[in-house]
Amino acid sequence: MAQDMTYARYLALDELLSAQKPLSDRHDELLFIVIHQTKELWLKEIIHEVLLAKRLIAGGDVEPAYKALARVSRIQTVMTLSWDVLATMTPADYLSFREDLGTSSGFQSHQFRTLEYLLGLKDQSFLKFHAEGSPAMAELTAALASPSLYDVAIAQLPRHGLAVPDSALHRDFTQTYQPSPEVEAAWLAVYRDPKAYWELYQLAEKLVDLDDALVTWRHKHVLTVERIIGGRPGTGGTDGVGYLATTLRRRAFPELWSLRTKLR
Ligand code: HEM
Repeated sequence: MAQDMTYARYLALDELLSAQKPLSDRHDELLFIVIHQTKELWLKEIIHEVLLAKRLIAGGDVEPAYKALARVSRIQTVMTLSWDVLATMTPADYLSFREDLGTSSGFQSHQFRTLEYLLGLKDQSFLKFHAEGSPAMAELTAALASPSLYDVAIAQLPRHGLAVPDSALHRDFTQTYQPSPEVEAAWLAVYRDPKAYWELYQLAEKLVDLDDALVTWRHKHVLTVERIIGGRPGTGGTDGVGYLATTLRRRAFPELWSLRTKLR
């Protein structure tokens, strides 16, 4: 009954607030856990919104998807800001409990990879961190197999009379999309005449907001990592800052970036 509902019960606060389990007695470990857990909660919400946006766009309902996409980029801003909270942790604070983390790393976050897959960045090498038959693997493989947010956006171009090659529409969705000059030309037509293609133009700029915010988040991550561990390797097995710097070149919506060079 609704009358029996309490704030704590509705939000499952007993479970939520007992899910922080520091392994050391170091003061800063709680912050480290809370920042990571908050990020996982926000990722859950972002995935929820991106799935909605994908469904709406695929069904030709582009305008209602703007709301979901705008929400995603606002959440991304909050996630990027949270690096400033983490940066109050000094290198010595972190090193005092780092060994307890073993080989665990954000590298293994299945929700982070699910988001990358939903956007279109489909590097399958990250699947190995998850057990066959686990809920994490099920979420990842579903995101991998389905058309990405960018695939459904590209599929809208022909509906507005803009030609795109069949290979961009009917492709193996488990692979990262490869940019094509024809798709770039179609988006260029949208950017050269926004009034004629207002719906697509707004959609494209919302997608660029997401890509921009993801790269901004990656920048702050690599900077904070350098500030806290310098040139040390990561707990997840990469060389650390060197690896993270390579991720800054990833773009989920490549032609929406490349077309800018050709605009006049
Ligand atoms: C002391 C703080 C942190 C350090 C030193 C650190 C370090 C690293 C390093 C070195 C990697 C590369 C993989 C590896 O070898 O481990 C990585 C990946 C990652 N970290 Fe962090 N991290 C920190 C905090 C965080 C936080 C707070 C989050 C989320 C809120 C996060 C999310 C991620 C994600 C999602 C990846 C995968 C990035 C990719 O492959 O594109 N990290 N981290």
